[in-house]
Order: sequence, then structure tokens, then C-alpha cells
Amino acid sequence: MIRIRGLSFSIDGLTILEDIDLEIAEGEFVAIIGPNGAGKSTLLKLVLGFLPLPSGSIEIDGVPHLDWLKQHPVGYLPQREEFDRRFPASALDLVLMGLAGDLPLGARFGERHRQRALQALRTTRTEALAKKPIGSLSGGELQRVFLARALVSDSKYLILDEPEASLDMPGTQSFFALLRELNQAGKTVITVSHDLQTLSEYCSFLVCLNRRLHCHTQTDLVNSEIMHKTFGEAVRIIEKDY
Ligand SMILES: Nc1ncnc2c1ncn2[C@@H]1O[C@H](COP(=O)(O)OP(=O)(O)OP(=O)(O)O)[C@@H](O)[C@H]1O
Ligand SMILES: [Mg+2]
Repeated sequence: MIRIRGLSFSIDGLTILEDIDLEIAEGEFVAIIGPNGAGKSTLLKLVLGFLPLPSGSIEIDGVPHLDWLKQHPVGYLPQREEFDRRFPASALDLVLMGLAGDLPLGARFGERHRQRALQALRTTRTEALAKKPIGSLSGGELQRVFLARALVSDSKYLILDEPEASLDMPGTQSFFALLRELNQAGKTVITVSHDLQTLSEYCSFLVCLNRRLHCHTQTDLVNSEIMHKTFGEAVRIIEKDY
């Protein structure tokens, strides 16, 4: 369980997040939606301990989040990761980086780590790419390798920030189908996404965020009023008629 209470966050006097109360239970497959600049990535970074928490609290499994994070890994796929594709690393090397927290300072990865990385690549159906230089992978292949990196530490929480960014429609569908498999196998999955159609198909809960929290509810209970509050009146909502 991730429990956020009274969280507010400002940068240079500008309020980015305001008085957020949110509980994400174990086993949820939750999507965080909201317009550009809504504070979605900032919220994830606060949960992951990458940003200092000025007010409010975050607990993970009943423990202050920074204490919990010292003891447990969290799988994280950042938004549109910028990296130099010429960096001389293979897909396997990239996945191994997800185990860096396991290594004592100065130690090298061993066969046990390699086997875990290969298993993560198998899970994301990218084992055949293990030896390929990362610079030669397509955007979709790379995204799956990044997912493998997020999975390799076998954390119970998997946090993703716009994983569909470089995927085409079939790629997005199969990526979310894989996330659903992982969720059904026991992982709590939290993803930021702009692909509302895919989310309505795959995610069980939506968190609607735009500086404030507008809702956290079952996907099929999100209505046009909540969407207007989150995205503004200008957005056009087309309701499906089944
Ligand atoms: N390091 C920073 N310095 C200044 N402003 C920042 C910083 N990080 C984020 N912001 C601002 O905080 C707001 C929220 O940013 P955030 O990245 O959380 O939005 P987001 O909801 O993830 O948007 P997007 O959908 O575009 O990824 C934005 O207005 C952004 O400009
Ligand atoms: Mg973002």
C-alpha cells in the first residue's frame, strides 16, 4: 500500500501539487492521467524519493517511504529517457543496470546477475536482443528493454512514466497486455499515460490529476464531469455506447 497524505510541492513559488491524498492498494493496476504539466511525473519522483518532500507524508507498506526505499527496490521506467544511443552497451548491459543497487561498491556483475537479466528480457520478449547494441534497437524494442530493466530487481511495485511514448498502436496494446500479465502475477502497477483508450481497456483504476487530485476510482466510473475537471472544459469527451 502506498499512502500519500497532505502532499504539496512547489518549485520557485509555483504550486505543482496541492494537498494530495491518495492510497494505492497492493495489486492495483492504476493509471495516472492529466494534461501536460499536471504534476504527474513530479508525483512519481516524490514517491520514488528522487525529490525532497516539503510537506505531507508518503508511506509505503506502513513505513515512511525513504526508509522503505532503503530496504526495497522499485522498478521504474522514466519518461522518455534521454541517453546517448552511441553509448557502447548491449540490451543485457542496460538491464543489468537495474541491479546496480544489489552490488557492493566496486563489485562486478556475476553469472547470477546475468541470469536474472536474461530472465527479465525473456519476460518482456526481448531475449533475442540481449547482445545487440542499444543504439541499434527500435523505439519499441528499447522500451521493452527498459521495462526489463525495471523488472529485473523483482520489486513488488512497478512505476512507469508514459511507457507508450515511442510505441505504435499494436506496440502499445502488447506492452499493456504484458503489464496486465505482470499485474495478474502480483505486481502493483502504476503508470502515467496519455493513451486514454488503452487505459480504459487495461487499467482497473484511474487517478485524475491536475495539480490537485480530481479522482481515484475504478476506470469505468470515470465520467465526463471528472474528465472536464481534470483536462479543462475545452476537451471533447466521446462516450462509448455499448
Ligand atoms: N526541475 C524543475 N524546475 C522547474 N519547474 C519544473 C521542474 N520540474 C517540473 N517543473 C514544472 O512542474 C510542472 C509539472 O511538471 P511534471 O513534469 O510533473 O508534469 P507532467 O504532468 O508529468 O507533464 P507531462 O504530461 O508533460 O509529462 C510543470 O509546469 C513543469 O514545468
Ligand atoms: Mg511527465
